[in-house]
Amino acid sequence: MPKKPALKKPAVDESYTGVAVEDLTAEQATAELERLAKLISYHDRRYHEKDDPEISDADYDALRRRNEAIEARNPELMRADSPSQKVGAEPAAGFGKVKHKVPMLSLGNAFEEQEVEEFLARIARFLGLAKEDAVEIMAEPKIDGLSCALRYEKGKLVQGATRGDGSTGEDITANVRTIRDLPNALKGKDWPEVLEVRGEVYMSRQAFMDMNKRQEEAGEKIFANPRNAAAGSLRQLNPEITASRPLHFFAYSWGEVAGDPAEALGGTMKAVRDSFHKWGFQLNEPARLCQGLDALLDYYRHIMAERPDLPFDIDGVVYKVNRLDLQNRLGFVSRAPRWAIAHKFPAEQAQTVLHEITIQVGRTGALTPVANLEPISVGGVVVSRATLHNEDEIARKDIREGDHVIIQRAGDVIPQVVEVIKDKRPKSSKPYHFPDHCPVCGSLALREEGEAVRRCTGGLICKAQNYERLRHFVSRDAFDIEGLGGKHIQAFLDDDTIRTPAHIFSRLPKLEPEISEREGWGKQSAANLVKAIEARRTIGLDRFIYALGIRQVGQATAKLLARSYHTLEHWRDAMTHAYRERKQQPEARKAEDVGEHYADLCNIEGIGMSVADDLVFFFGEDHNLKVLKDLEDELTIEEVAAPATTGSPVAGKTVVFTGTLETMTRSEAKARAETLGAKVAGSVSKKTDYVVVGADAGSKAKKAQELGVEILSEQAWRDLIGG
Ligand code: IVH
Repeated sequence: MPKKPALKKPAVDESYTGVAVEDLTAEQATAELERLAKLISYHDRRYHEKDDPEISDADYDALRRRNEAIEARNPELMRADSPSQKVGAEPAAGFGKVKHKVPMLSLGNAFEEQEVEEFLARIARFLGLAKEDAVEIMAEPKIDGLSCALRYEKGKLVQGATRGDGSTGEDITANVRTIRDLPNALKGKDWPEVLEVRGEVYMSRQAFMDMNKRQEEAGEKIFANPRNAAAGSLRQLNPEITASRPLHFFAYSWGEVAGDPAEALGGTMKAVRDSFHKWGFQLNEPARLCQGLDALLDYYRHIMAERPDLPFDIDGVVYKVNRLDLQNRLGFVSRAPRWAIAHKFPAEQAQTVLHEITIQVGRTGALTPVANLEPISVGGVVVSRATLHNEDEIARKDIREGDHVIIQRAGDVIPQVVEVIKDKRPKSSKPYHFPDHCPVCGSLALREEGEAVRRCTGGLICKAQNYERLRHFVSRDAFDIEGLGGKHIQAFLDDDTIRTPAHIFSRLPKLEPEISEREGWGKQSAANLVKAIEARRTIGLDRFIYALGIRQVGQATAKLLARSYHTLEHWRDAMTHAYRERKQQPEARKAEDVGEHYADLCNIEGIGMSVADDLVFFFGEDHNLKVLKDLEDELTIEEVAAPATTGSPVAGKTVVFTGTLETMTRSEAKARAETLGAKVAGSVSKKTDYVVVGADAGSKAKKAQELGVEILSEQAWRDLIGG
């Protein structure tokens, strides 16, 4: 018999396996749903594809029951690929993977009119236009479904893929072929040889309700909303089931296109829409070409008024710059385009009772109050917890335990308490007293001047903080140590096996035999853990900095620091000097007034004084220096190379732009330079490589001259970077 390909058991985060469903926080429930989805899908495949089940039916059922219980309590957390959404007894084998040639990105959100105004202003500023209403914008409804990429070669549909994580999705070709709204062969003939059409798969409200009725009658799972129903239907392994579900598709975007997209599809969104329509696609209507804020808001109100009568669920509208050449110039910021934004409809609200306020302690010691609510359905999703942000917020709204409250949720935002219904307040009610001690370690919890959050001062003695810090340290974007989940960290902390991040490297590998004897471990898992730890003894400086969990220092800032300081020694020395300077000048409001090292730090574009202060104060704490030192003894920390800019003449160079540029705005110039691997600084120093001077350049040009820094005209800069 030919050997079947091996099926690998998925790596899962087992931190919360033992936690009772009702005790799971939202974050923990999310982690659990992910674990269960992975495991159930794996066991399904073992059973159906490999005929080789690994666990008993009873254990398998227990997994499914836990998944459903968590979903029942936290329907808002239900995953698109939830095992409970796979209707029928279809084998839940995995789909093939599809790597997207062009990443599938998402959109930034605007909730307020002011944010739309800022969106327009940002575009005008970036493009250097005087008038904010100069750019034409295509406005379209935003349907709440799933994005999907359809690939056509020589006019024939060859592949359908889900968005997945944006870079890799799932192959759902057989399923999308059953959707009647989309052509299996493109109509007409002026389509490009290769064309990837992107759009949204969705289900109409009526079809959703009919389907749920049928499911209910058949005693099957019912879906929370049309979006979930569409997701569950699309991700069927049996395309016949997909075919029986009334799915629709509208086209709104594109991925890979042979040749120049602007030429192949048309130079504007309007033309693209016309092309899509001509080739046989449905469009999201009613769309409208608008110019200026008022026109956009008018469209928004119009769609909001139409919303109840539309046959499908929408959660807002999308605004897109009409001209594709301008879209190209505007480009992207991290995962969303600068040239488009989603203007979301206001949050849906509901009234319920707030039973209890509990406090969570985070990695940096922040005490976050959480409202535990009588579960209530808000816009089709059951909510049982809401954030209360901080103590000022509780005091300002006078929120008390036992109060009737209005809560709201908007999109995927965490639910919030909007206001208290004072008329319904119980007589016995007392104002809420925010704790001034940490509920976990009992240390004093203090508020710094000008800060809204109260923080536990326990530092490393606070188990909650220490736990969160270690979790962060081993997390995916930090040290990425597989197999060291929260539950294990907790156990290691409880019996003092480890206390600091360095202990992971200095102690755990030596304890492999002992660990394998512990509850929840075996020979294999202990060996795997040690392997995972050893594999991380060499790490990039950016990940290392991020892993330290310094307040306000996320991945982006960590990257900036790593690229600016190159080595750990360099960075540490600079930060230590900057700390001393800041200690001498605590009142200074300008970075230059603090000192040279501090000013250098703030001179990195993207780092302001608030972040700089958090950074340097980290270096003022002896226990942090010890953590660094101990880690250094265990690790090899690698210099971080500039981004992939092979052949870029300005990679790693520091550039300052000054004066008025003619062919581009300052932001555009900066974005371009950064894409090419250059660092853009705000002021000229000895470390500057080039100063690019536009018209009316002032003191910076002079300073460059004094320091002997190379000065380039705008044209010379363009020649240098190749146009
Ligand atoms: S354009 C690069 N247009 O909303 C930008 N997206 O919140 C590509 N969506 O992932 C997206 N209606 O799934 C675009 N008219 C529309 C849309 C739309 C719904 C979805 C899409 C996207 C998500 C972002």
